[in-house]
Amino acid sequence: MIGKEIIRFDSIESTNSYIKRNHSTLNDGTIVLSKTQSSGRGRSDHTWMSEEGNLYFSFIVKGFASRSKIFELLARVSVAVVELLRDFHVDGSIKYPNDVLVDNKKICGILIESSGTKEIDYVVVGVGINVNQVDFKELSDTAVSMKNTLGNDSSVEEVLVGFIKHFNLIEEVPFTKVFEDYLRYSLIIGKRTLIDDEEYLISGISEAGKLIIENDKESKEISLNSIQLTDLY
Ligand code: BTN
Repeated sequence: MIGKEIIRFDSIESTNSYIKRNHSTLNDGTIVLSKTQSSGRGRSDHTWMSEEGNLYFSFIVKGFASRSKIFELLARVSVAVVELLRDFHVDGSIKYPNDVLVDNKKICGILIESSGTKEIDYVVVGVGINVNQVDFKELSDTAVSMKNTLGNDSSVEEVLVGFIKHFNLIEEVPFTKVFEDYLRYSLIIGKRTLIDDEEYLISGISEAGKLIIENDKESKEISLNSIQLTDLY
């Protein structure tokens, strides 16, 4: 269960970094929230623009059994985001592995970081949701907010409460059922993409989080970290 304790900041460098620095004193499920971040981080060392008006938070998961459960966590978080957006009448879809898109533009990014290489001590889940930002400047072709879609502001606090509600509900549901929803909300199945200059059809995602791809030469599973899905058609 997440959100029993919430630590709030007006500004911090990154809510993920705060948890990594303070993990030993934080209880399982604690949320760290900040109105802005001065060094918000995305995947692949990207920065995450963090101006006021959007939602930036992270939570810590302790006692994590194994690395193979990370995809499960990621899928649960992604499904929770899609479901909370629906409550606000925003129709999001999941772009594997963990972006949530609206009209093919990114509305939410998720950054999962884990400790250690063998045994995992804790996992940090960072979520950024574009709520009230209107102008994404050079990212305007690829980023979108709830406000861009709805035309009105939403309460950042209510969006967080929606996430907590859906995530806690989903935590109780067996993964096989959550995975059905993950696939249903997923954009990429049935699409084609180029991987290492070869064209493949993305035919599915395994429960372990591998992408199942095929062309006339072969069918194979590839891992989540080994690809960058840029062009889907
Ligand atoms: C991505 O799509 O690249 C992931 C973006 C994750 C951004 C969130 S905002 C809250 C948390 N703190 C960070 O520094 N990053 C994550």
